[in-house]
Amino acid sequence: MNSKAIDFYYFTGTGNTLLVARKMAETFSDSGIEVNFRRIESSDPADVDLSHTLGIAFPVACQSTYLLVWKFLRALPECDGTEVFMVDTMQSFSGAIVGPLRKVLKKKGYRPIGAKEIVMPGNWFPKRINEEKNAGKVTRGLDKAAGFAQKIVDGSSRWRRVPVLSDGFYWICSRPKTWEMMAKAGEKFTVDVEKCNGCGICEKLCPVGNVTAGEPPSFGGSCQQCMRCISFCPSEAILVPDKEYALYSAVKVKEILGD
Ligand SMILES: Cc1cc2nc3c(=O)[nH]c(=O)nc-3n(C[C@H](O)[C@H](O)[C@H](O)COP(=O)(O)O)c2cc1C
Repeated sequence: MNSKAIDFYYFTGTGNTLLVARKMAETFSDSGIEVNFRRIESSDPADVDLSHTLGIAFPVACQSTYLLVWKFLRALPECDGTEVFMVDTMQSFSGAIVGPLRKVLKKKGYRPIGAKEIVMPGNWFPKRINEEKNAGKVTRGLDKAAGFAQKIVDGSSRWRRVPVLSDGFYWICSRPKTWEMMAKAGEKFTVDVEKCNGCGICEKLCPVGNVTAGEPPSFGGSCQQCMRCISFCPSEAILVPDKEYALYSAVKVKEILGD
């Protein structure tokens, strides 16, 4: 790594990615590198400091990542060799992010110095939560995060790309239809009015302004299914009809909101 500061842009739905980014930051700080955390959903890509190393962290969604993350990445300014690394968290597999993102960033003039995908507990409507298994996954995931950060510091990290495979996956996963389907499913969320206390946290949590607080809150047509509103509703009042699932979260709601 050339610079002594990292601006670490992250998006997290239920906290896995935040845990990973924080773990990496510990290693960076131990090596005397300054880390500035920035939330993707409330950052302007035009404000990125091109004299710092750029870190990007996000969850895998539909083999790729959320449209809101892609929107930020595609709008990054052009530069002359700013170092960039990415880390994602996922339940098991992603085919459509590491290669395609490298391509986009290279084209803008960034120097990709490392990419890592880290398995963490699944948060997409898990049937049940196995606390022990999840704890094991988190421990292993955070170990990998620390190891990856150390490699970035040492200069031995890599950003490998599997050209044909990842381009093919990207083509499939980035089709508007995929995200229209996600949004349609999000429109079907309902609220148990007996449980809802009208606190409005769901509106604050939504990274795309799709939830309007009220008694009950209402949902628009641009949900990306990050799971925040469902997972962090303090009265567990947001429901998905005809679906059996348990709620997963890796952190407290205030850590997501940054209070
Ligand atoms: C809508 C949605 C789609 C997902 N798609 C994938 C996927 O394609 N592959 C995968 O391995 N995990 C997938 N996951 C699981 C998440 O990537 C994983 O649990 C991640 O660590 C969540 O990070 P977060 O807690 O920071 O939001 C998906 C989760 C959601 C909510």
